[in-house]
Amino acid sequence: MKNRFNNITSKEWLPFQKSWFLFQDNETLYSEHIRFFMKFDDEQSMPNIYYYGTNRKTLKEVAEKNKANIVIDFTDDIQYALIDLRSKIDEINTIDEFRNLKREILLLTKNLFAILKNRRFITILLHNKTINDNYYPLAWDLSYSISSGFSLKDEKIACLTPTDQKQLNNEVFYLLNFRKDENSSGQFEYIDTELTCPNTNISKDFSKYTKQWDIIKPPPRNKKEILHPAKFPENLIEDFIEVFSNENENIFDPMSGTGSTQLAALKKGRNGYGTELSEYFAKIANDRLEEYLHPKQKSLFIKEENNVKFKILNCDVREITDHDFPSIDYIITSPPYWDMLNMKGAENQAKRKEKGLKLNYSDNTKDLGNIEDYNNFLNELTDIYLNLIELLKPGGYITIIVKNIKKKGKNYPFAWDLTRKVSSKLIVLPEFFWLQDDINLAPYGYGNTFVSNTFHQYCLNFVKPIK
Ligand SMILES: C[S@@+](CC[C@H](N)C(=O)[O-])C[C@H]1O[C@@H](n2cnc3c(N)ncnc32)[C@H](O)[C@@H]1O
Repeated sequence: MKNRFNNITSKEWLPFQKSWFLFQDNETLYSEHIRFFMKFDDEQSMPNIYYYGTNRKTLKEVAEKNKANIVIDFTDDIQYALIDLRSKIDEINTIDEFRNLKREILLLTKNLFAILKNRRFITILLHNKTINDNYYPLAWDLSYSISSGFSLKDEKIACLTPTDQKQLNNEVFYLLNFRKDENSSGQFEYIDTELTCPNTNISKDFSKYTKQWDIIKPPPRNKKEILHPAKFPENLIEDFIEVFSNENENIFDPMSGTGSTQLAALKKGRNGYGTELSEYFAKIANDRLEEYLHPKQKSLFIKEENNVKFKILNCDVREITDHDFPSIDYIITSPPYWDMLNMKGAENQAKRKEKGLKLNYSDNTKDLGNIEDYNNFLNELTDIYLNLIELLKPGGYITIIVKNIKKKGKNYPFAWDLTRKVSSKLIVLPEFFWLQDDINLAPYGYGNTFVSNTFHQYCLNFVKPIK
């Protein structure tokens, strides 16, 4: 197949498509991006790149090596723009300073839109940040404004590899990739997302989370677990439960699936509560928990007795009443990712079908995974969470595991939209990333355009204000 997009081989194309990557220095980062996003046709005509950022020297070296020409004004056509805002964000001390930067970058992207070739990309690098004790998802906020004019195609996240322990910086930053195409309006609108509500009374010690990401390789699923199309790994949940709750406290998951949350809770000496709409999965979940607490085959080793309890009701989470559960200390959950399991073409779906496994959770219309319209789905889910926090003790935490969604060529920043919505009642805390490295990469868009394999899941964290 002819590669019309860049000059790299399919072997080099594939690793770049992973939606997260670890890098050692800016040179590698810049170099990989220039090689991927630019096409070099012949020696005479060097393609143009626009750069904004403080690492101009590095960029210049990398551009020279790759034979790209750096333009400084807005007169020539460009093939690619790299906007590195990391240092600028580091210097920011107030949210007003960020708003000014946002205005400046919006003007810049508007100018770039006029000179960027069609179907070509701009990449913006920046991170979220705590300012005066409030956590602000600045990257997501900026992205909303830029996507009013450009098409947001894909976000990658990057983590600096800790080669030098002294300079260890485990902060994640975002590489937001926008394309100029038939769906981009070129009309840039300043959007303020007001992503956070005031942060007061946060008392937990987060020191266990020394980094913002982890590569998780869950053990192979057993016979019962594999029946569920989207189960999360218990070891990840156990870590969260340890950070956000104490022994003997009550943990809740409104969409329990196979009961991973409750099992992790019991293992960590907490009580596990929840609901699950599907009768089939609710039974699997209850069986797993029962078997854990009262195993049929007694172990030779005497298991330490503990008094933990579990209860998973088979019902729509919207139907629970005040009396069904005690008050909850921590909620950890993962919703259906919109109606993606009903998209028959997905690669994973074909494999499950071959094995005769269930493709979706249920055909029940109350199942959130069966809502077709994105905004309806988002609103229903938000209502569920905002009602549910009535069960949560003030100062209690909630973790929601989700990912951004690509459907029919369009990008839906589900994780960011959900944060924006629930932040009307919850305080936003730094997000954590579950990085997946146990799935094969697929050569989406090869030779034509950039489409990543989304292998990073957001663990969104919030706390209920104490009033
Ligand atoms: C992503 S899965 C959860 C997987 C689970 N964390 C595990 O590890 O097995 C989402 C679950 O939400 C359930 N669900 C969907 N709509 C629901 C509703 N209205 N009330 C309760 N559960 C619902 C689905 O049946 C599905 O099992």
